[in-house]
Amino acid sequence: MSTRQLTYSPFDAEVIADPYPVYRQLREGAPVFWSSRAGTWVLSRHVDVSAALGDPATYSSASGIFPTPPGVDMTELFLPMLIMSDPPRHTQLRQLVSKAFTPRRIAGLGAQIQTLVDDLLDETPETDAWDFVSGFAGPLPAIVIADMLGVPREDRDRFRAWSTTLIQSNPARGEFGAGLDAAAALYNYFAAFLAERRAHPQDDLMTALVQAEVEGEHLSEDELLGFCLLLLIAGHETTTNLLANSAVILAHHPESRRELADDPNLVPAAVEELLRYDSPVQGLSRTLTRQVDLHGKTMATGDTVLLLFGSANRDDQAFPDADRFDIHRAPERQVALGRGIHFCLGASLARLEARIALQALLTRHRDFDVDLDAAIRLHSGPIRGFASLPIQ
Ligand code: HEM
Repeated sequence: MSTRQLTYSPFDAEVIADPYPVYRQLREGAPVFWSSRAGTWVLSRHVDVSAALGDPATYSSASGIFPTPPGVDMTELFLPMLIMSDPPRHTQLRQLVSKAFTPRRIAGLGAQIQTLVDDLLDETPETDAWDFVSGFAGPLPAIVIADMLGVPREDRDRFRAWSTTLIQSNPARGEFGAGLDAAAALYNYFAAFLAERRAHPQDDLMTALVQAEVEGEHLSEDELLGFCLLLLIAGHETTTNLLANSAVILAHHPESRRELADDPNLVPAAVEELLRYDSPVQGLSRTLTRQVDLHGKTMATGDTVLLLFGSANRDDQAFPDADRFDIHRAPERQVALGRGIHFCLGASLARLEARIALQALLTRHRDFDVDLDAAIRLHSGPIRGFASLPIQ
């Protein structure tokens, strides 16, 4: 296939509706593709995406990771963030935040998440259509993160509104204003909150972050604020859309749905397949620190490269018959949560939330359907999912 016929940008309406046909074309005909409209190289094969994730010295995160048009510097828009840093700073920051974000803290959340899930499902209307996003998939991760950080319950709705605005502002359409206002509102909120936790330590993540220390070093104020914002963005919309995409997939695969309802032990492996099959994070960017020659193309130092996780996860070379949804597949090499040094810090939390949520949903609603005609897709380059998803 000639690359001349092929057009692709993560912000195209057709791509947002269904990216998988163009991903296949990219993998087969243009594995190193220059997207002039998005101003970036695009890697779509599993082998190439995985190799790039494993080589942060060449594929740097420090100049930003969200696909943006040429000339926009994401580092000017955000405070220092773990996810937008390279070693050695990344190694130090990750060590520091890992002191607070411990497996023990995550494992201890199981009972609390179960109660939240049950409470949200108790409010499901018996007959009427129900918006799965605003009624369930949205509030759940937002409440879990807010509770972990120690944010008072009365501030939850403001949180979700800010975070949604931030994620949905589309840099390719020049929509920075609303997103930046939401980021500013969050920074101000967190700054006051951090000061409060310094003065009055509690048993919550925010206090643990303030106190975290490695070899006498603490997180700076900017790093603390950046990390709080990162948790909100990275942990909230992603999990919401894993659940929303899962509802659509399970509605369209009734046999798998009933099998999962009958045997909850299958749910953990099914969550991995759901992550693979319709990944909530479709792709993130890197900036080249040196020239890279790949598949006959030359990518120059300073160019950005979009790594398509969503395409890598549908690559037949890595997952035989990749377009088939199969809860028995055990897709260990799926890259929906990244790979290498930036591998998702919240992976175990995301998996825990998804397992509890899907198990509870299927126990109560063995059969359900989604109304895709009335659903509203998210218009975000990196995130794939729904702003609204009516379910019956
Ligand atoms: C289904 C849900 C989730 C998905 C699909 C997801 C996906 C990802 C991906 C792909 C990365 C790698 C970024 C890169 O390579 O540039 C990442 C990193 C990260 N995620 Fe998640 N994530 C999810 C849930 C969460 C949750 C619940 C949290 C925390 C509450 C979280 C916190 C983070 C953080 C802090 C990083 C940055 C790690 C680093 O740079 O070292 N994520 N996530």
